[in-house]
Amino acid sequence: MSVDWLALEKKAKAWIYEAAGMVKQALANPIQIECKSNPNDLVTEVDRAIESFFYQKIQAEFPSHYFLGEEGIADELDSLTGTVWILDPIDGTMNFIHQKYNFAISLGIFHEGQGMIGLIYDVMNDELFHAVRDHGAYINNEAIVPVKERPLHESIIGLNAKWLIEEKNPYKNPLMALVRDVRSIRSYGSAAIEIAYVAADRLDGYISVNLSPWDYAAGIILLEEVGCKASTFRGEPLDFLSASTVIVGKPQLHKEMVSSYVGEEL
Ligand code: IPD
Ligand code: CA
Ligand code: CA
Ligand code: CA
Repeated sequence: MSVDWLALEKKAKAWIYEAAGMVKQALANPIQIECKSNPNDLVTEVDRAIESFFYQKIQAEFPSHYFLGEEGIADELDSLTGTVWILDPIDGTMNFIHQKYNFAISLGIFHEGQGMIGLIYDVMNDELFHAVRDHGAYINNEAIVPVKERPLHESIIGLNAKWLIEEKNPYKNPLMALVRDVRSIRSYGSAAIEIAYVAADRLDGYISVNLSPWDYAAGIILLEEVGCKASTFRGEPLDFLSASTVIVGKPQLHKEMVSSYVGEEL
C-alpha cells in the first residue's frame, strides 16, 4: 500500500503544534527536573509527557508503525524496517529548563530505512522547519532557497565549545584546528535547531562528537532536500539506531571538514 507522505506530514504537524501547546502550558508552572547519566544530563516530566503523547497518537492511528524516542517509552528498535517515527520530545532540555527558550520538538519519519518526513519545531520562536522527501524544505511554509557555498575561512560552524576542553575527546586537536580556521563558531544548545539552521543557511556547518538518532533524524531529511551533506566524522553514512559522531554542512565545506580535519584515522 502506498503512503500519502504529504497527508502524513499534515497530521504530524498538527500533533507537533498540539504538543507545543502542552509544553508552553507546562512552562507556566514549576517543572520537576531529574538527572539521568550525570548531573548535567537532565530530563523533565514534560519531556516524558510529550514523548508519551506522540507514542499514544501513533499507536492509536498507525498500530503497525514503529517508534524510537529519547526517553525510552517504547521498546528498543533493532532495525529500520517498516515505517519508523524517531522523536526527540524536547531537544535542548537544558535550554528548556534554564532559558525557557531555544528548544525544539524534533520528529523524523523513516520508511524502509529512508528518511521521508523531517519536522523540527522551535517552540518559542514559532518556527517549523519541515520537509517531505523530494518536495523541498520549508520554514513555516516558505521554501528554503538552495544556497551558495562559502569558503571554510568565511564559514560559521555550530559547535559546543565544551568539546575543545574535554581531555578525553579524541577529536580535541582537529576540532581546535577547525575552530581556528573558520570565521566563527556558535552554540545554540539544540542539535536539531542547529542542523535546521544549516539547512536554512543560518549556519554553514554543525559538528558534534556524540549525538543520538533522535537528535539528527529529522534534520537529515531537511538537509537532503537542500543538498547539504551529513555523515560521521569518518565520512560514513549516519546510522539511525545508535549514537555516533556527526558532521553536517554544505557539500564542499562538509567534504573539506572531513578530509582536512576530523576524518583522520585516530
Ligand atoms: C542535547 C542537545 C545538545 C547536544 C547534546 C544533546 P537533549 O539533546 O541537542 O545541543 O549538544 O548532545 O544530547 O538532551 O537536550 O535532547
Ligand atoms: Ca536528553
Ligand atoms: Ca536531543
Ligand atoms: Ca531530548
